[in-house]
Order: sequence, then structure tokens, then C-alpha cells
Amino acid sequence: MAPVIVIKNLIKKYGDVVALDNVTFEVNAGEIFGLLGPNGAGKTTLIRIITGQLEPTNGTVEVLGVNHADFLNSDVRFKVSYVPQENIIWEYLTVEENLQLMASMYKLSRGELREKVENLLVDFDLKSVRKRLANKLSGGMKRKLTIAMALVNDPEILILDEPTAGLDPKTRAMMLGNIEKLKELGKTILLTTHIVEEVERIADRVAIINNGKMIAIDKPANLKKMSCGNEVLDLLFEQLDTKAFEILHKIVKDKNLITVGDRVIIKEDRLAEILEKIKENEKLSEQILTITLRKSSLEDAFLFLTGRLLRGE
Ligand SMILES: Nc1ncnc2c1ncn2[C@@H]1O[C@H](COP(=O)(O)OP(=O)(O)OP(=O)(O)O)[C@@H](O)[C@H]1O
Ligand SMILES: [Mg+2]
Repeated sequence: MAPVIVIKNLIKKYGDVVALDNVTFEVNAGEIFGLLGPNGAGKTTLIRIITGQLEPTNGTVEVLGVNHADFLNSDVRFKVSYVPQENIIWEYLTVEENLQLMASMYKLSRGELREKVENLLVDFDLKSVRKRLANKLSGGMKRKLTIAMALVNDPEILILDEPTAGLDPKTRAMMLGNIEKLKELGKTILLTTHIVEEVERIADRVAIINNGKMIAIDKPANLKKMSCGNEVLDLLFEQLDTKAFEILHKIVKDKNLITVGDRVIIKEDRLAEILEKIKENEKLSEQILTITLRKSSLEDAFLFLTGRLLRGE
């Protein structure tokens, strides 16, 4: 599929801080592309450069063939919608007035505008609060309204910075469902998150970003396979001391073991054998609170690729 966003050797420095360190990748037409990284990884910086709001220190970005420097002066900006990390709404307008005002900025007939607003109120479950002032909405409702407003122009590319931040599980599921529906309509979606379950569920491809560096880009299943295999062993110790650690190191190769506080995650080809050895060793097993053999997640992939947890612990 043809790339719609092409990023080459992007570098962004804020004084001494290197927010983006030579980032190169492409987003293809019609895919859901997830940018996964912890706080401060550089996700928002990257998105702000893509949408022409921030100048890169070096490197280039092209969106639908237009260079980032020309983006805000070209018609391409009408084909791209951007939802920032913080909500952007008119606080003293009602929900439907917010949508109407946004829609009125585009060339829609009155009928089209009315239909568009009605559909978005339904899609984002905002019909019951359509007459409510935006400043009286809950945080989750504000998030839904902000994202609904980005869709009034029927964009080809939708760029979402943390779309599900602050949403409860039910609303989050609805939001992810809506994003998947947009993909079915042929839209391209670039979204950032630090919630692994989300990108695992909906993203066609994921880029893992840490400290401004793009560490890996692939389908979620491939990222897991290449970094930690299909299953991992998850041990929780009462208190992980040096003695227990030494015993573990005799059983598992150094590179196949990662500690996070009192937890140890193990990847190995023969996990069942490792499990037996751990259970057989009394000194070790009596210190372990729980042993879980489970399917690996993108969190594990991130852990083995970077040595740190995505969400911090
Ligand atoms: N305007 C700025 N001036 C100076 N440093 C900045 C500025 N904006 C971001 N940074 C720094 O750049 C790095 C990347 O920040 P960025 O906001 O892009 O991260 P992020 O991945 O979006 O994080 P989060 O998940 O918390 O939103 C951080 O170290 C941050 O402190
Ligand atoms: Mg951010």
C-alpha cells in the first residue's frame, strides 16, 4: 500500500534535550498505526511536527506528498484531522453547537451539516447531552466531543494523540470501535498511546519509541515474537534478594531474564523445563509468591527491547 506519511531522519532538539533522535518510518494508506512509548518518549513532538505545528531540527516529513514546511498553507490540511493530547472545545457552547461550529468551517450544505452532526452525536454516544454546555461535561464526554469534532470534515488521515486518555473501560472500547470503523471506511489512523492493550487490539503496525528513538516497527504479533516469543514466565517474589537472583541466573540465560522490582519476567524456548527447574529448587521456590506462565504482551516486548516498563512501576 502507498505511504501517506513519510518521515525521514527526523531530529528534534529542545535546547539540550533530544526529543527525537533520527526517526525514519512510513505510515501506509488505510492502516491503523500505533506509536507506543512511555511518558516523554517523543510521541507528541513527532505528531506536532507531522501536523506542521513544530519545526524539526533536521530531517523531513511528507503528508500526502506535501512537505511539512508547506503543510499549513496547502489544501492537504483539510484532509488531515488532528486531535491533541488535551481537549479543545468551546466551553460556553453546547455539545451540538460545538459540532455545528466546527462543521460550519467546511464547505457543507445545511442538510449535510445537520446529518453529519446527528451521526457524530450517535456514534460518540453524546445525544443525551447534546444541549449541555461543554464546560458542564465530564472529562470522558469532553474527550469524546473533541474527537467527534475532528471528524466533521471526513478526513482522509486522522492523527490522535492519546485518544483514550481518561476514559473508563466501556467508553474506551467504544472509542476503539469507532477508530476501527474509520479504518473500514478507508481512513488512515495514526495514534499514540502508552496503553499496550489498545494497540495490540486495533493497530495493524506499531512503532515502539523510547527516549526519542524508534526501536522497532512491525505488526504487534511480530514485535512480540522477535523480542520475547509467544509466552513468558512471570514470577513474583516476596522479596527478590541477591541469593535468589544468583540461583535464577544459573537456570536462565542473562539476556532472557528481566527484573522489575520484585517481579522477574523470563523468556526462553523451553519455558516448561525452566519452570520445572525453578519448582525443584526449594530455596528459590519458597520465596516465590506466584508463578504465571502466560501469553506475552507488547508490554513484555517493550520490556525486553528497552529494559524498562512502559507505564513505570
Ligand atoms: N516545548 C518543549 N520545550 C522543552 N522540552 C520539551 C518541550 N516539549 C517536549 N519537551 C521534551 O521532549 C521530550 C519528549 O516530549 P513529548 O511531549 O514529545 O513526549 P510524549 O511521548 O508525548 O510523552 P507523554 O506520553 O507524557 O505525552 C521530553 O523530554 C520533554 O520534556
Ligand atoms: Mg504526549
